Amino acid sequence: MRIPDSFLDELVARSDIVDVVGGYVRLTKKGNNYWGLCPFHSEKTPSFSVSQQKQIYKCFGCGKGGGVVNFIMEAEQLPFVDAVRLLAQRANLEMPETGEAQGVREYRKRLLELNREAARYYHGVLRSPEGAAGLDYLRRRALSPATITRFGLGVAPEGWDNLISAMAERGYSKKELLDAGLVVKNQQGRLYDRFRNRVMFPIIDLRGEVIGFGGRVLDDSTPKYLNSPDTVIYNKSRNLFALNLARKSRQGHLILTEGYMDTISLHQAGFDCAVASLGTALTAEHAQLLSRYTGEVIICYDGDGAGVSAAQRAILLLEGAGLKIRVLQMRGAKDPDELIKTQGRAAFAQLLEQSENHIQYRLDRLKGNYDLTDDTQRVEFMKEAVGLVASLHSAVEREIYGARAAELAGVSAEAMAAEVKKELRRRIFQEKKKQERRDLAPAQQMQPRERSLRYENIRSARAEEGVIRLMLLSPDLFRQAAAQGLEPEQFSAPVLGKTYRLLRTRWEQGLQVQLAGLAGELSGEEMSHVASITDQPESAAHAVQALRDYIAVIQTEAQRRGGGDQIALLRAAQKKYKENKSYGGS
Ligand code: CTP
Ligand code: MN
Repeated sequence: MRIPDSFLDELVARSDIVDVVGGYVRLTKKGNNYWGLCPFHSEKTPSFSVSQQKQIYKCFGCGKGGGVVNFIMEAEQLPFVDAVRLLAQRANLEMPETGEAQGVREYRKRLLELNREAARYYHGVLRSPEGAAGLDYLRRRALSPATITRFGLGVAPEGWDNLISAMAERGYSKKELLDAGLVVKNQQGRLYDRFRNRVMFPIIDLRGEVIGFGGRVLDDSTPKYLNSPDTVIYNKSRNLFALNLARKSRQGHLILTEGYMDTISLHQAGFDCAVASLGTALTAEHAQLLSRYTGEVIICYDGDGAGVSAAQRAILLLEGAGLKIRVLQMRGAKDPDELIKTQGRAAFAQLLEQSENHIQYRLDRLKGNYDLTDDTQRVEFMKEAVGLVASLHSAVEREIYGARAAELAGVSAEAMAAEVKKELRRRIFQEKKKQERRDLAPAQQMQPRERSLRYENIRSARAEEGVIRLMLLSPDLFRQAAAQGLEPEQFSAPVLGKTYRLLRTRWEQGLQVQLAGLAGELSGEEMSHVASITDQPESAAHAVQALRDYIAVIQTEAQRRGGGDQIALLRAAQKKYKENKSYGGS
């Protein structure tokens, strides 16, 4: 059975490799990658690495590697289709083909319709006399009628079964209400509305579907918020409140808040790029999701202790997704909603303006962990601060934040700069050593582990590897490659030619150009090999020139091979002759 590429892409996008592998292997982040003990061979020190950015894993010990589907095939010893099925279940995606899947899809559709009906119902109540208290509450919280409509806010009335009867009238069963999480069953088996006497916030996904609800009390009673549970259509770690609106924002960044009300207030004040997590902590999946819509996230959490530690956690996750991060420090109010309400949008704009590079933020937090009047602790603080500053990419940043760190530690900027320099040298030295080890690797080691894949022409194969790396890095280069007349047939290594062709087809069809999507077409050995070649560095900055050079090598070598057919035949004949002779002579 053929699994559509678009489905595979969605599956891969929803199955973050760090999460999936993390279910089997204990991973620790070091540098850009995660490391752990290889599940496919026995070892005592970790040589198994996972790249979140490339969405591939690779073992330097046994050579196994690939995307998320390959990992499941290998770890669970499953054929391709079954591995895809397992991941689909995990990701709450229905498999495209079977009758059963068809049923599940229809059921999901039905639950989505039910949620939409429920949202309409709650919104209707808000406009009716029964919703007066709720509407009044939202007004007191300074929400305009336009905002209420824009977010589709509503009111769940008092009483135990208003929604149940309203939805029953529209033909929805109790089971459907339960499965959508709108209704709860008590110990006696009686059903009652989950949301009662609350203002309702519908959660809308990127396709505009209502996937769940949050509901807030109108006073100080608890729990302050109730949320829909995770259901077949609602997954809190994979969705963000208001992302459906924020993704259309022109601000160039996204603002990440903790609360529904914060996000709504920000939108109302013109900050239409705000989103919130759904009553749960931020996850790696959220970070990935955000990175699909922006390059920069401004964390805007509450100023209290919980907000600060949540921000620290969020920084690490967002960094992992390659996002640029700033952190807004809430001052003069407990959260953005309160700030805007009491001090106006300009006050928020100013905080936003002042929001810092997350390094400054982390320096401040670091300072909080040490008693800097104590010399021993000051030294410890220095050590950590030096590490932080040295991890910055630009020299200007290192100077600025180095000076700030020095000030905090009460040492001279020079002393700090010297320490940072030392640390940087150490890091560069290590990096260089690693690179040397790679560069000096004899040609033998450049060969695929798998014998059947061995390169015939190392010079060409290296260039072919380079081409593949570049295409993965920036797929638009396929255009340039086409202009230079590069064809898969010109590749000397069949596995590389095949990979190139598959990736190019994906690019032509507007699919993700990524290795993980080739799990159905490359064998395990082929995949392991291709995953291992992506490991070498390739710079996007000089990509155009590099590609030109690679292609020149490939085409020269191809021509030589083509023109050299006769010679090759001759050589083969000679070899055979010699072999025969040596056998005959003994
Ligand atoms: N939350 C929740 N359950 C609670 C409390 C909070 O799910 N009992 C979630 C909600 O998503 C809420 C977010 O955590 O939006 C932030 O909580 P909090 O800061 O307490 O609430 P605010 O968003 O500030 O809401 P409000 O301004 O209405 O008090
Ligand atoms: Mn609040």
